[in-house]
Amino acid sequence: MKDLFGQALLDYQNGNYTEDIITSTSISDDDALPIPYLFRQFEEMPKLEQKALKLAKGDILDVGCGSGSHSLYLQKNNKKVKAIDVSKGAIEVAKLRGVVNAEIKNILDETETFDTILLLMNGTGIFQELSQVSKYLTHLKGLLNSGGQILMDSSDIKYMYQDEDGGYWMDTNSNYYGELDYFLSYKNEEEIPMKWLYLDFETLKLACETVGLKCEIIKEGEHFDYLAQLTHFE
Ligand SMILES: C[S@@+](CC[C@H](N)C(=O)[O-])C[C@H]1O[C@@H](n2cnc3c(N)ncnc32)[C@H](O)[C@@H]1O
Repeated sequence: MKDLFGQALLDYQNGNYTEDIITSTSISDDDALPIPYLFRQFEEMPKLEQKALKLAKGDILDVGCGSGSHSLYLQKNNKKVKAIDVSKGAIEVAKLRGVVNAEIKNILDETETFDTILLLMNGTGIFQELSQVSKYLTHLKGLLNSGGQILMDSSDIKYMYQDEDGGYWMDTNSNYYGELDYFLSYKNEEEIPMKWLYLDFETLKLACETVGLKCEIIKEGEHFDYLAQLTHFE
């Protein structure tokens, strides 16, 4: 990873914001990801994220924290939060913004336990592909204190395969339709391509059940997106 995402966050933090990140996927063309959005305040966050922050309690882990917007809000509200991200630049920015407990870490290397684990801004993305969902969910389950919860958002992106006649053009013989190749560029440099996973709720729920987690929809968004709460079965 060249960490162009982290570089973009650092540029913005240091007052050198001149252009946005450009993203595209295996099924969509170039799109700008506005860097100011990655520094959003509570009022600017989607309702699903606001709901997740309101539900967060106890010892909280913010997975893939980016610039630390969610952690900062929680901290300001006297919550105990740890922020982790694989991006060195992101963690540098989160610390510069005031996140007290921020570490460069892959979620799979986390060993502490928590009452709330947050994965926000398409939190299932970091699972990368359907075949890895059980591995990540099992690990996350192991990081949950008794009575704890995982709050994550995602979207059913079936609509992205819909043509003008209302039919779907996805190839039913290929991989799960939410598995995308994700391309990112910043200031004319290209990041190493990544895999990014969107999960429809039913597929997430089924995966949760296979690893012994209860999965419920807490809130639906305006565009096929949802916030899910994962807990131990009583
Ligand atoms: C879409 S961004 C979301 C950032 C932030 N949560 C927000 O809402 O603004 C996803 C973040 O997850 C991080 N990430 C990806 N895979 C990860 C992993 N396995 N462990 C921890 N962080 C990861 C990326 O570096 C990136 O900062």
